[in-house]
Amino acid sequence: MELKFRRNPNYQSLRSEMTDEPFFMDRRKLLATGGALGAGSILGALPACSEPQGAIAAPANASAHPAPGAKLAAKKAAYAVSDTTTVEEAFNGYCNFYEFGTDKDDPADKGFLLKTQPWQIKVEGESDALGNYAVKDLVDFSKLEERVYRHRCVEAWSMVVPWVGVPLSSVIAKLKPKATAKYVQFETLLDKKMMPGTRLPVLDWPYVEGLRMDEAMNELAFIAVGAYGKALLQQNGAPLRTVLPWKYGFKATKSIAKIRFTANEPKTAWNKANANEYGFYSNVNPKVSHPRWSQASERVIGGKGGFNERRNTEMFNGYEKQVASLYAGMDLEKNY
Ligand code: MTE
Repeated sequence: MELKFRRNPNYQSLRSEMTDEPFFMDRRKLLATGGALGAGSILGALPACSEPQGAIAAPANASAHPAPGAKLAAKKAAYAVSDTTTVEEAFNGYCNFYEFGTDKDDPADKGFLLKTQPWQIKVEGESDALGNYAVKDLVDFSKLEERVYRHRCVEAWSMVVPWVGVPLSSVIAKLKPKATAKYVQFETLLDKKMMPGTRLPVLDWPYVEGLRMDEAMNELAFIAVGAYGKALLQQNGAPLRTVLPWKYGFKATKSIAKIRFTANEPKTAWNKANANEYGFYSNVNPKVSHPRWSQASERVIGGKGGFNERRNTEMFNGYEKQVASLYAGMDLEKNY
């Protein structure tokens, strides 16, 4: 696996560190065996990579949302952590977004293919507000908050990211879930032209994830439309994604195209791929190892210790106070 951090040569030191990602290897293996899901077409030749578009003014059209990289005004919220914020280049350059490929730099290289305007989010299932929505229908851009959250991937690496967005509960309130809605499922766009990784059967596309309704309504659950004061770049899930800082990163759904309220626990992409390794809850838990590696500590990406820094992983990623009550009485080893 080759990493490219084109804008800062210091990140070259990451390359050797990144070659043995266990999670990646797992998916590579899937690819090598053709995947459990049947044959897919071979990745076509791709155009040369593009740089992020930088600060671009929001379009005049009122229903359009800011383009990737546009500056976003946000009020600082009272969510901060003492650890150093990850450098922006590392956040933008070291990504998991398998719809663009399985290497960490594929999303940054190929994300420009994803057109985020116009964008539609379809609401389905147990809701009194079914229909199609624009991003601005769901997210109040006059109420954007900046929240600095820890971000812990199941692969045992972490970042600290200043997200910009709104509480997920504010979006759900607009969508009027019925009393029968016990869960909410998020689905990523599936477009084989714009997302070359989906031409391969790495996962059972589209990417889906889900939460229990009380988890979704928790104060920490967030819909991000930006990070580092700018609208999200495609590689990070433009135009909108979930952020769930007490859970492993794969519980967050990038580039959401559908929100579905359900009475029963919804399917989730990684659970479908390997139920023994990726459970529905996937709360960060240093005491429950992944079957193939420990979750007791994590490698800090793009922090002040360079790229070899490690820190001990905290229960619920340090958010025990806000979320432990959601799981009272549950066996967290069984409900991994
Ligand atoms: N969402 C989609 N649609 N596809 C993905 O491959 N990867 C997940 C999650 N959401 C993924 C996704 C994983 S494993 C992680 S760690 C985070 O996105 C990574 O988010 P980041 O690249 O913005 O840090």
